[in-house]
Amino acid sequence: MGHPTLRQRARELTIEELGAPATRVLIDDMLDTLHDYGGIGLAAPQINESIRLAIIEIPGGPTRYGELEAVPLTVFANPEITVLDDTRAGYWEGCLSIPGLLGWVERPQHIRVNYTDLDGRAQRIEPQGFLATVFQHEFDHLDGHLFIDRMTDATRLVFEQEFARYPPDHGGEVPAAI
Ligand code: NI
Repeated sequence: MGHPTLRQRARELTIEELGAPATRVLIDDMLDTLHDYGGIGLAAPQINESIRLAIIEIPGGPTRYGELEAVPLTVFANPEITVLDDTRAGYWEGCLSIPGLLGWVERPQHIRVNYTDLDGRAQRIEPQGFLATVFQHEFDHLDGHLFIDRMTDATRLVFEQEFARYPPDHGGEVPAAI
């Protein structure tokens, strides 16, 4: 946080770029970074590449985030979100770009995502619940937004260490590094 790239609107990727070796190398780098910090999502601007590219990978079964619906490694190019139902729910969010901090963020829980896959095909998914939150957090990075911008109560911005020592009495979900 503080690096200008994180606050820019990233540019669209062309179909040609998607298939280019340099893009595959970049995705490998992003995957390494994601695994190194044990997160479930990473956007290209977080490693100083201002392009509309993000990866999400959620391991199935019980994880440090609790019991999550598995999402195999998926690459999203030029994703666009449409809110299908504005009913919101909150989760504790963390972020590689804001290490050590967690914030309570409420977001719409039913969205549609149109995106281009690695083969250049148009795809569509309609995530709900926590998954909808994950996608919104991740794709916010492509527009220069961080989770702290989405918080409505600054008293719910906490250090991970204190969160562990003094578990909040509301929304006890285990936080997610997105
Ligand atoms: Ni993030």
